[in-house]
Amino acid sequence: MTAGTQDARRRAFVTGITGQDGSYLAEMLLAKGYEVHGLIRRSSTFNTSRIDHLYRDVHDEQSNLFLHYGDLSDGSRLATLLDSIQPQEVYNLAAQSHVRVSFDEPEYTGDATGLGAIRLLETIRMIGLHCRYYQASSSEMFGATPPPQNETTAFYPRSPYGAAKVYAYWVTRNYREGYGMFAVNGILFNHESPRRGETFVTRKITRAVARIAAGQQTELYMGNLDAIRDWGYAPEYVEAMWRMLQNDEPSDYVVATGTKYTVRDFLSTSFDRVGLDWEKYVKFDPRYLRPTEVDALIGDPSKARDVLGWTPKVHAPDLARLMVDADIEALKHEGRPWIDTVTWA
Ligand code: NAP
Ligand code: GDD
Repeated sequence: MTAGTQDARRRAFVTGITGQDGSYLAEMLLAKGYEVHGLIRRSSTFNTSRIDHLYRDVHDEQSNLFLHYGDLSDGSRLATLLDSIQPQEVYNLAAQSHVRVSFDEPEYTGDATGLGAIRLLETIRMIGLHCRYYQASSSEMFGATPPPQNETTAFYPRSPYGAAKVYAYWVTRNYREGYGMFAVNGILFNHESPRRGETFVTRKITRAVARIAAGQQTELYMGNLDAIRDWGYAPEYVEAMWRMLQNDEPSDYVVATGTKYTVRDFLSTSFDRVGLDWEKYVKFDPRYLRPTEVDALIGDPSKARDVLGWTPKVHAPDLARLMVDADIEALKHEGRPWIDTVTWA
């Protein structure tokens, strides 16, 4: 079956499908009966480990996941793809998403994370595609503005990444207001999982805990342990993305747990899980500091609860424990593919 066939299944186009959120979103959409089209970057090595378990050969009649080479920096490719796929829902999850790295690669981050959104929006407008558009906005946009943060809180980004996300946020609103597009911003606070990239702080910690407990690592170098974050569980957050696109009216929503935890708390809970004292293993390395830090992010998800009926169930302590357990399990499979299992409602 070729892309965009005539059957009645809803079609979604997902950028960033190889990332943490993209993999859970694709998994959830497939479970709901969608035909899912994902944008993947051509790479000299395989970069699809998070979605390999979802993929069937394209010659398989049952195949409902289609992957397409492309890049958010390549507007003409986006136009060709969207025109041929004709999706009803477009989820823009692709980004250079690492805040620390955005200080090293500010121009590229602006291009992919900021301009990538306008390339998609303008493509949708130019080809007259009737679809609903989701923009992966971020609590990093609030930056230095003190918590609690909600949909009306002023933005004060503290990194090239945060500034690029503010740009993408505003063009999404502009296309909604200017052209009547169903375009929404999900302002998601930090969300984590066993599929989280290994250099984000939670996964860096839980992976190190598993390796230290197994005798494969002796120390862990960290930056600012005082940072406060509102950490939730990624599979719950992709459900919120989907709900935003099913609502009657397009709007912007904060998605968060409303609770706070420091990096130090996350360390302590994670090491506790294997009966170790974190202070014996963790060392400071200034290379993990940022030129400007975001001290505290705590979201107020009242609007998502009231309008979308979305409520988070997993909070930071349970999240830390489930991630440590998953990393212990993953170690047993080292060298062989392993993926966590999620049960979708
Ligand atoms: P992630 O794991 O870092 O995944 C990023 C995805 O974007 C990957 O699939 C990556 O492809 C792709 N990508 C990067 N640059 C690209 C480009 N130029 N063209 C096409 N694809 C590109 O991020 P995530 O945690 O899933 O987050 C998903 C989105 O939500 C991101 O936009 C992120 O900024 C935003 N967000 C995340 C959080 C969070 O806590 N996780 C919170 C708020 C907002 P490769 O696999 O090839 O690298
Ligand atoms: N990565 C990392 N590594 N962070 C560290 C370390 C370390 O060794 N030590 C301390 N931290 C602190 C950072 O300074 C930051 O305050 C906090 O841990 C969280 O860092 P990250 O996990 O890298 O996430 P982030 O909050 O900067 O950004 C994530 O969340 C945003 C939403 O608020 C990313 O997923 C962004 O893409 C997302 O938009």
